[in-house]
Amino acid sequence: MSEFHVRAVAEGEQRACLDVLSQSLHGKPASDEVWAKMAPSWPAAGKFAAFDDHGTPVGITSSFEVELTVPGGQKLVTAAVDGVGVRADWTRRGILTSMMAAQLEDLAARGVPLAALHASEAVIYGRFGYGAATFCRGVSVERPRAQLRDGVGREGVVRFVTPAEAVERVPALYNRFEGTRPGFVSRPAGWWPGFFDRVVTGDDGYRVAVHSGPDGDDGFVVYQTIDTRDRQAPERGALLDIRELHAATPQAWAGLWRFLLSIDLVSAVAGRGRPLDEPLAELLTDPRAVNTTEVIDDLWLRLVDVFAALRARSYGTAEPVVLEVHDKQLPGNDGRYVVGPDGVERTATEADLRLDVATLSSLYLGHGLFGDLALSGRVEVLDEAAVARADALFHTARTPWCGTFF
Ligand SMILES: CC(C)(COP(=O)(O)OP(=O)(O)OC[C@H]1O[C@@H](n2cnc3c(N)ncnc32)[C@H](O)[C@@H]1OP(=O)(O)O)[C@@H](O)C(=O)NCCC(=O)NCCS
Repeated sequence: MSEFHVRAVAEGEQRACLDVLSQSLHGKPASDEVWAKMAPSWPAAGKFAAFDDHGTPVGITSSFEVELTVPGGQKLVTAAVDGVGVRADWTRRGILTSMMAAQLEDLAARGVPLAALHASEAVIYGRFGYGAATFCRGVSVERPRAQLRDGVGREGVVRFVTPAEAVERVPALYNRFEGTRPGFVSRPAGWWPGFFDRVVTGDDGYRVAVHSGPDGDDGFVVYQTIDTRDRQAPERGALLDIRELHAATPQAWAGLWRFLLSIDLVSAVAGRGRPLDEPLAELLTDPRAVNTTEVIDDLWLRLVDVFAALRARSYGTAEPVVLEVHDKQLPGNDGRYVVGPDGVERTATEADLRLDVATLSSLYLGHGLFGDLALSGRVEVLDEAAVARADALFHTARTPWCGTFF
């Protein structure tokens, strides 16, 4: 059987690696035209690949740097891991395992405290220390039933912007509210061209509308309408599908929903990847007009430097707990940490709770409960009273949500 070896991608090798990725995701190799557009946002830096005996890439993992908001508002440098794929004729031979090891060791050596990704399948990344740390929901609002309560969303105005205006205005607008909840990530300049190409300036017919309040532009929505009418059911109307909706204030958020629900010839307004705590039903006289179509994992997080990550977030009010953490890939993280409202230290004291790094990563941003994970056996309880304390310490006022796909 042929062997493979994993190393950092060198300058000039990116296009062949992109083709491996495209193939693993059932796409086509990039044409010259597509590659010319993509090349600036596909640097060799941050990429590791597996090569066969002839030097041909057969697997790839990538990352770029973002800042992720952690509970308490600090923004931590985070490797946004994307572009992961192994050629189908090379899978299940340990290539992903080797690439993940190389990537994590590199991040640890460079002092990057967190790594995050969106997983194509939920079975893949737990073994590498990632845990599902934010969740999101799909919603569908039956428009004929969706009457807004009196006065909801009337403070501002909504206007369409052209694709050119969207390219100019939307990134700055996003930066206005980027850090407002745990799990949000910054969108570096290199993230936006792919989004605009695919969605805003492409052929898919997405529209961009901006909300303005008393302090100027304070929210935007990107959506498309899919015509579902036919001769048998002309009254059915279109499906309005939200790609993104971000708002800096509750008024802007309600104003954007008012706008979407007021568009004629629409039977349902739907969106995937919405935050779990979006109080949509509360805007309406008939809360049952809102249906949850799915609840699914959103951001998978990996504490690369457990001590630095634990120290960077804030905690609720409770007596400290001692967590004993086990990390198979990065054993430097192994050990006990005393976590309390006044901070975090390494300690030699006996542990209250024992868990692996994937479980801690899934709890880190405030989603989920130690109590539930203790029930499922993912948290080993050495002192029963510590479970409630850990939940009080890690709980966050706002539900974590990422809202950026990469
Ligand atoms: C997911 C993928 C990258 C895995 O690569 P790989 O080289 O086959 O992974 P490995 O051989 O290192 O597998 C490591 C372990 O994970 C398991 N595993 C990996 N991918 C899995 C999957 N999709 N479903 C179930 N188990 C999987 C393997 O069985 C193996 O388990 P073991 O250690 O108990 O033997 C590859 O299947 C792929 O490219 N899939 C399509 C593209 C994709 O989904 N990319 C991820 C985007 S987020």
